[in-house]
Amino acid sequence: MPAVVLIGAQWGDEGKGKATDLLGSRVDYVVKFNGGNNAGHTVVIGDEKYALHLLPSGILSPGVVPVIANGVVVDIDVLFEELDALVARGVDVSRLLVSGSAHVIAGYHRTVDKVTERFLGKRRIGTTGRGIGPAYADKINRVGIRMWDLFDEKILAEKVEGALDQKNHLLVKVYNRRAITVDETVEELLTHAERLKPMVTDTSLVLNRALDDDKVVLFEGGQATMLDVDHGTYPFVTSSNATAGGAVTGAGIGPTRVSGVIGVVKAYTTRVGEGPFPTELFDQWGEYLQKTGGEFGVTTGRARRCGWYDSVITRYATRINGITDLVLTKLDVLTGIEKIPVCVAYEVDGVRYDEMPTDQTAFHHAKPVYEELDGWWEDISGARTLDDLPVNAQRYVKALEEMSGTRISTIGVGPQRDATIQVHDLIG
Ligand code: GDP
Ligand code: IMO
Ligand code: MG
Repeated sequence: MPAVVLIGAQWGDEGKGKATDLLGSRVDYVVKFNGGNNAGHTVVIGDEKYALHLLPSGILSPGVVPVIANGVVVDIDVLFEELDALVARGVDVSRLLVSGSAHVIAGYHRTVDKVTERFLGKRRIGTTGRGIGPAYADKINRVGIRMWDLFDEKILAEKVEGALDQKNHLLVKVYNRRAITVDETVEELLTHAERLKPMVTDTSLVLNRALDDDKVVLFEGGQATMLDVDHGTYPFVTSSNATAGGAVTGAGIGPTRVSGVIGVVKAYTTRVGEGPFPTELFDQWGEYLQKTGGEFGVTTGRARRCGWYDSVITRYATRINGITDLVLTKLDVLTGIEKIPVCVAYEVDGVRYDEMPTDQTAFHHAKPVYEELDGWWEDISGARTLDDLPVNAQRYVKALEEMSGTRISTIGVGPQRDATIQVHDLIG
């Protein structure tokens, strides 16, 4: 009964898309359980490169049933744009299932996201502007619109009216914007309702039955541990639970179902948007990692902030998620650096922290304590076993494994599917 959860262990963009794709041929269902089209996952198959946002990366694997579960917020226009673009490239998307309980992102969520950020000024989060936060806020405020609501126009109009009530006061009186009408929103939401209807179902029931039948289900997290609304660097986070627990509530399966948790980490660290980042580099090495690693956002095109590997964060992610296996990506990007610093602890006002300080002020002031590891010069992109790696690269992997407290089961040495070293099987 393998129900495997795959999550980002840093601040996102660790290579979750590639890791999911690697498992594609061995899984029956791939489930997106949190977030929405704020995610951007790159999958490279042969000469083809795909950028996925709202759809789970598993949609590219023939035979897999892709599922958008209840914990996701869905921008319906984006959903069909993404589906149509894949169909145009010959991908079969006919098996997609969408939870009736998933919440909808409407135009007013995108508007509120953008004006709120502008209003915050210096204190902005640096969101993707996709309406994610406002859609989750409505869900928690109990004025959200769910997929089921789209199939009853009367109910939909009533709910939209409820959702717009306070927002229009805010938009007009505080933000000096025009009011949004119920009619325009209902019309927008109903555009694709008929096309959507056959995909919408009780995905929790489908997934629990699949697990009863010994199917392999992979729960693919969007964003990452440090962007989780509870466990990340709040308030500089996204608005969902991107940690492993989010798979349980976000897909409607019990915690006893989960058989393993895969954490994906880069061999260094990146972050998009605002917020603290202890190992961030402002010198030529930051630029070097950004250039060599191609660190530009898949969703917004923003340059990603870059820094050295932070083992305090991986230890924290291991603990919060119960990670059983790590996938270490982009080891190839570190080739050609004489000494590679790795953060082993923080210092805050003269006090050493071996574990992540959850006090926001302490984390903001955290200075990394580095250990330097010897680098390597050989091109490692062709390595397919641990022994193919230069000794210092092997030592780097071993050191990260020891610092993180979890085994590294897969190592990425390039963006392509086969540019991978498999050390341990990820699906038990
Ligand atoms: P995700 O959001 O976690 O799925 O990650 P992104 O797709 O946003 O960013 C990861 C980037 O790294 C993508 O451009 C991938 O093609 C690329 N990538 C993944 N694994 C590796 C690797 O091992 N080496 C290199 N050089 N690139 C990789
Ligand atoms: P994947 O799945 C990296 C960041 C944004 C911003 C914060 C809040 O590709 O790893 P939001 O629009 O979610 O309200 O923005 O979260 N963020 C991501 N950063 N990768 C992502 O997704 C992200 N999704 C959101 O940059 O700082
Ligand atoms: Mg990404």
